[in-house]
Amino acid sequence: MTERTFSIIKPDATARNLTGQINAMIEEAGLRIVAQRRIRMTQEEAEDFYEVHRERPFYGELVEMMTSGPVVVQVLEGDNAIAKYREIMGATNPAQAAEGTIRKRFAKSVGENSVHGSDSPDNAKIEIAQFFDEADIVG
Ligand code: CMP
Repeated sequence: MTERTFSIIKPDATARNLTGQINAMIEEAGLRIVAQRRIRMTQEEAEDFYEVHRERPFYGELVEMMTSGPVVVQVLEGDNAIAKYREIMGATNPAQAAEGTIRKRFAKSVGENSVHGSDSPDNAKIEIAQFFDEADIVG
């Protein structure tokens, strides 16, 4: 089933010029980058985006990290895009990520873990809509 997921290449990755290498891994997995923009996330955008984690002890650190430098927001499209992207990202904590995954290769820690990907179809819709208009997505 063709679906879309939302991806963020996080500040720890853009700081190390890893956008191209991460995009290559995304494309090699058969996912199509159908929208992409490099932005500086505002405090408000990061707080909204991670609203579900507001009560977590790492929330402040998370928002601070996501606003610490440029990010690349993306829409990825393909067969089972949500599950496929989560598979190639690897586990949230890079210490537990499988060989060959983006986080195993590039993530520095559970906080600076290089990429984000939606965890469900409902969240993918919400997350895509926060950063993209439908007209900006070219499938
Ligand atoms: P992400 O997929 O962007 O969604 C929530 C993020 O919270 C997650 O990736 C991690 O970067 C971050 N996170 C999860 N657990 C911790 C933690 N213990 N300390 C700092 N950040 C965390």
